[in-house]
Amino acid sequence: MKINKITSIYFSPNGTTKKIVNKIAHEIGNYDIQEINLNLVENRMMEHNFKSDDLVVIGFPVYADRLPELSKEIFKNIKGNDTPVVAIVSYGNREYGDALLELKDNLMHVGMKVISGAAIIAEHCFNKNVAANRPDEKDDLQIFDYINKLKYKINKTNSINSLPELYVKGNYPYNPLKTHQVPTGDEKCILCGLCAENCPVNAINESNFRLTDGDLCIGCGSCINVCPTGSRAIRNEEFIAFIKNLEIIASQRKEIEVFI
Ligand SMILES: Cc1cc2nc3c(=O)[nH]c(=O)nc-3n(C[C@H](O)[C@H](O)[C@H](O)COP(=O)(O)O)c2cc1C
Ligand code: SF4
Ligand code: SF4
Repeated sequence: MKINKITSIYFSPNGTTKKIVNKIAHEIGNYDIQEINLNLVENRMMEHNFKSDDLVVIGFPVYADRLPELSKEIFKNIKGNDTPVVAIVSYGNREYGDALLELKDNLMHVGMKVISGAAIIAEHCFNKNVAANRPDEKDDLQIFDYINKLKYKINKTNSINSLPELYVKGNYPYNPLKTHQVPTGDEKCILCGLCAENCPVNAINESNFRLTDGDLCIGCGSCINVCPTGSRAIRNEEFIAFIKNLEIIASQRKEIEVFI
């Protein structure tokens, strides 16, 4: 497979998917790297065209066993041309459900050839005790092993069209989409504006950072994680109990799963 350039492309409100995708893109070889951060509205709105000698590494976090719903708007603007692509999902050690399958299906639909996929565990963005500090050193070793397998596949494949369709885990119909929680601020707000700056969908009211537009918010947790005073939070008791309970139901360490 002839590769001219690598593009790392990710949606990553809390930054973990970005780190994973960039690590893979940078370690595959000595190629020019382009980075597309889909947290930015302008990058989601822009059309991204890829050629057959581009290699794309694309990653999304898993939201309730699926891709984030806003990936639908993203895929409308991605166009491949038999472009080889590595599909990555990151998840908080519970389950990744149908997200990797959904990512593969979307990529095929826009003209990409999925040469490999992986589900990689990342610290849970709603509970730092779940998959704390992951990917960690053990994960890194497995990620490097995966990168070597990727390099081998890229080198030994003459024609991308000779590759059979990649199998990845997941089921049809996909898990139904779930409603998400909407965080708000309280009196601890010191008006620093970090939450609004980091919100990927501009859902936070710039003249009152305590307020959130529930129609825009995708429940990504970024505003909660960047807030320096703990002002922004989800205030639903059932949700708070669910997130605490993840320390029990997601306590057993899962390992990276790769499909190649
Ligand atoms: C709305 C939402 C739903 C999530 N659902 C799942 C899930 O189904 N399974 C899981 O293991 N982790 C789940 N997580 C955790 C994220 O997948 C994980 O923290 C991810 O690495 C965040 O990526 P980021 O750092 O790039 O934003 C969810 C997180 C959010 C915000
Ligand atoms: S990040 Fe927290 S403290 Fe800063 S404006 Fe937002 S709610 Fe207020
Ligand atoms: S307001 Fe919603 S979409 Fe914006 S950062 Fe907070 S959780 Fe994410």
